[in-house]
Amino acid sequence: MLLLSSKDVESLLEIKKLPAIIEDCFYAYATGQAVMPPKVYLDLPEYNGDFRAMPAYLKGACGLKWVCVYPQNPQNYGLPSIIGLLIYSDPATGMPMAIMEASSLTSYRTAAASAVATRYLANPEARTLGVIGCGIQARTHIKVLAEDYPFDCIYLYDVNPAKTMELKQIFPHLPLKSASLEETCRADILCTLTPARKPVIQKHFLKPGTHIDAIGADAPGKQELDLEILQQARIFVDDVKQSTHGGEINVAISSGALTKEDIAGTLGEVIAGKRPGRQAKDEITVFDSTGLAIQDIALAAYLYERAVKHGTGLEVELF
Ligand SMILES: NC(=O)c1ccc[n+]([C@@H]2O[C@H](COP(=O)([O-])OP(=O)(O)OC[C@H]3O[C@@H](n4cnc5c(N)ncnc54)[C@H](O)[C@@H]3O)[C@@H](O)[C@H]2O)c1
Repeated sequence: MLLLSSKDVESLLEIKKLPAIIEDCFYAYATGQAVMPPKVYLDLPEYNGDFRAMPAYLKGACGLKWVCVYPQNPQNYGLPSIIGLLIYSDPATGMPMAIMEASSLTSYRTAAASAVATRYLANPEARTLGVIGCGIQARTHIKVLAEDYPFDCIYLYDVNPAKTMELKQIFPHLPLKSASLEETCRADILCTLTPARKPVIQKHFLKPGTHIDAIGADAPGKQELDLEILQQARIFVDDVKQSTHGGEINVAISSGALTKEDIAGTLGEVIAGKRPGRQAKDEITVFDSTGLAIQDIALAAYLYERAVKHGTGLEVELF
């Protein structure tokens, strides 16, 4: 069995290829070629965190991601908010083939899903990106989205200004600018990447035609967008069950302010041509991303194949 560390995972990833891998898995899911039970949450409010168990099968590949979200980890312990491991198994025999670090895998597959949603839903002439929340997900979002769009400016906003400075040091070659919340929200494409539980972005901050990748809300009670945005936007989700349970729309759904009928479609349905994506230049589109286990397995399959080909990782005998 192969052990893949975060360094191995980073060394095996080819950024340009990630959106196509994720697009393919959303298509497979929308066309009945994947099996994915809803993720199971283990809430530990006394520790201000939670764990999720995320199994999936996709085109001859299967596995389970065990991942936690501890938003206070960076401040309190100098650890990432998201820490995960993935067990990649042989669906024919059940034999584990690899265990891989899944924190970086999570942030790359999340950014790749945003890139795919942005390709399908944003106005093609979009030239500015706004990043709200400049932690780990922001790093991969900037890396992956900047491969797709020749951004004139990438606006950065975080409640902790030091986080925007960190990003500027990581990406000196990109047009990054620290900005106010309002200025950042005027971008053509907005990525919201905070663990907020109260809306951060108000409708009047946005201009017509904005596309929003709403990433931060991935558990019950989390939300980043004001209700007025959700009521006026066309909302696309990664998965209806997961988004109504814990995605950006979960609070509005539980209060009855939105219903499932307000969802314009899943990203997979748009990719498969079953539902229309953006219909007008000035409409606001929202991609409500909760993160799907099929994304993890699609990336794990790609990483495993490359690791074997390149002799990367550590072979261990467990069985
Ligand atoms: N949808 C998905 O697939 C998916 C995947 C991974 C992470 N997430 C979620 O994304 C969020 C961010 O994850 P991360 O790993 O980047 O966390 P992180 O702790 O590395 O970064 C979060 C950043 O948000 C900033 N922030 C907090 N509140 C803010 C506010 N009100 N306004 C502006 N900035 C604010 C923090 O200062 C921090 O820099 C979490 O809620 C996480 O659960 C979702």
